[in-house]
Amino acid sequence: MKKQYIGVFDSGLGGLTTVKQIIEKLPQENIVFLADTKHIPYGSKTREQIISYTLENIDILKRYDLKALVIACNTSDSNASDTARKVHDLKIFGVIAPAARKAVKTSENKKIGLLATTSTIASGRYEKQIHDLDEKAEVFPMACPDLVPMIEEGAFISDKKAMKEKLHEYIDPLIDKHVDTLILGCTHYDILAELISEIFPDLRLVSSSRCVIDDLKAFLEDDDVQSVEKTGERIYLASKDAESYDKVASLLIPDIRFQSI
Ligand code: DGL
Repeated sequence: MKKQYIGVFDSGLGGLTTVKQIIEKLPQENIVFLADTKHIPYGSKTREQIISYTLENIDILKRYDLKALVIACNTSDSNASDTARKVHDLKIFGVIAPAARKAVKTSENKKIGLLATTSTIASGRYEKQIHDLDEKAEVFPMACPDLVPMIEEGAFISDKKAMKEKLHEYIDPLIDKHVDTLILGCTHYDILAELISEIFPDLRLVSSSRCVIDDLKAFLEDDDVQSVEKTGERIYLASKDAESYDKVASLLIPDIRFQSI
């Protein structure tokens, strides 16, 4: 049988947190991941730009035989997944819907904090999804423009003090609103999950990087398209500076090797 892949993309490191989940939960699957390092960060770009990058990324990934695609980027999901689904005849998974579902289930007081990029917050997509599930739930959004650049520089390892200060700046106002659940509404933020739990042990975290796996697993089983390999092949592509990206990416996946597109 011809080898088929699960395509995954993000602007950068965040998508690798979803790839890690796929490797852990679905180790037999072949994965092709694209980091759009040429256009990172997406969070400060216009909706039109994000749609254009998203469609370009899917075109690149479609050079491989894809059985499904995961948009492992909330910014792209919130701005461009509807267009992508119209343009491409492909099973496309987003990260927002499953994270919104999990947050509504997780929160007891129905006060839900949302950390995300400026563009994801502006889209109002999380609020919409959450209110479709529970109209009484309150969502407290916080745009975090400084987190992605800090994470891409590796500050989660090299400068934990600055990272913690930044997290206080963004999360303290949400604590003042009595949120009991915090959505990490950017896949990059999953990298900070441990640090956030260390600072705010009472917060329940819902990571957008992780919730999509159940949807993906159910699709592979229901459509009977699981890989039969023991260990899947993993291909990592970057749209810019592929060689130098290995260093920071290997903080997440040891010995990772990126190729140019
Ligand atoms: N990781 C992405 C997200 O989930 C976007 C980060 C960025 O490029 O701003 O939103």
